[in-house]
Amino acid sequence: MGVFVSTDDPGPAGHEQVVFCQDRQSGLKAIIGIYSTALGPALGGTRFYPYASEEAALADVLDLSRGMAYKNALAGLDLGGGKAVIWGDPDQVKSEALLRAYGRFVQSLGGRYYTACDVGTYVADMDVVARETRYVTGRSVEHGGAGDSSVLTAWGVFQGMRAAAEHVWGSPSLRGRRVGVAGLGKVGRHLTGHLVDDGAEVVATDVDPRALEWARTNHPGVTLVADTAALVAADIDVYAPCALGGALNDETVPALRARVVAGAANNQLAHPGIEKLLADRGILYAPDYVVNAGGVIQVADEIEGFNFDRAKLRATRIFDTTRQILRLADDEGVPPAVAADRLAERRMADVGRLRAIHLG
Ligand SMILES: NC(=O)c1ccc[n+]([C@@H]2O[C@H](COP(=O)([O-])OP(=O)(O)OC[C@H]3O[C@@H](n4cnc5c(N)ncnc54)[C@H](O)[C@@H]3O)[C@@H](O)[C@H]2O)c1
Repeated sequence: MGVFVSTDDPGPAGHEQVVFCQDRQSGLKAIIGIYSTALGPALGGTRFYPYASEEAALADVLDLSRGMAYKNALAGLDLGGGKAVIWGDPDQVKSEALLRAYGRFVQSLGGRYYTACDVGTYVADMDVVARETRYVTGRSVEHGGAGDSSVLTAWGVFQGMRAAAEHVWGSPSLRGRRVGVAGLGKVGRHLTGHLVDDGAEVVATDVDPRALEWARTNHPGVTLVADTAALVAADIDVYAPCALGGALNDETVPALRARVVAGAANNQLAHPGIEKLLADRGILYAPDYVVNAGGVIQVADEIEGFNFDRAKLRATRIFDTTRQILRLADDEGVPPAVAADRLAERRMADVGRLRAIHLG
């Protein structure tokens, strides 16, 4: 995967900026990818991961930063898309000096990029990064941060699921629907709470016995099944992948009995052909990056000074966005993810263009 695109390419413009950062003493090797600042400063988390090679780290940051531009555009944020990767094993090399060195590189971009947590980085790490840069979100509540983003992620997934239910069954209510939740982690637990409150019947699974214990204690009405294969094959109306990526693949989709898929996991489609497989089986897929945007909405709110009610209101609008995307997909005869991409590109072009109006 390269960084530059041909000037003849009629597709999206490619990445604006890719920055390689190195501090040998602390062991920092990071790449910051800024895909687009058409809507505002780029926002996206920092993934700290032991990539097999520099090429793999670059490919990931290019992919993830592009994804953030689309997610942030559809979330209605005045923020562009970016992401960063730190190449290394966080258990081996993460240190105060490394995180602060990284913070200085983020600061050096002068606000073109805001960072946050991702795989391998936590709220406490962002507090350390914040000692060197103003351009950081996802800090702890004690430091003026938004705290755990899974709260509004789950709320947003619930809203996206309601919109998908309305599209398929004519009513957004999940009362009486059987919803399969794969992964009772931070998001899956909050989501289960919303579903139970709405009168849904929850069927769930997790590989961690502590998560199952949580369900038994807090929601004894939830039916627990052995594994994801059993969940997918169960008599469910909605499937909510809330564990790892690639949940929709050549094994799960043919076995899936649900009419709707709406869940928190990132990158649910294992490969591009899966969308057609879903459509052929009459399964409505609410794109993951649309319905799981509540987390980025929560941390983005921190830039203005965190206000939970305001952020929740914005995450509630995931209902309207999902509904709009599903209708557009029907009208244009394309899968929902294609419709979502079109809507995001339209907003980036229409609103981004306004910067050409000279302000004097
Ligand atoms: N937390 C957020 O704000 C947020 C935002 C956007 C997207 N997401 C995505 O949502 C998903 C869940 O996030 P989270 O914060 O709840 O993570 P988490 O680590 O708290 O929870 C994941 C859960 O999935 C379980 N799990 C792992 N493999 C499994 C398997 N094969 N079968 C069943 N369960 C399995 C784990 O035991 C864990 O309980 C992730 O894909 C994450 O990238 C999270």
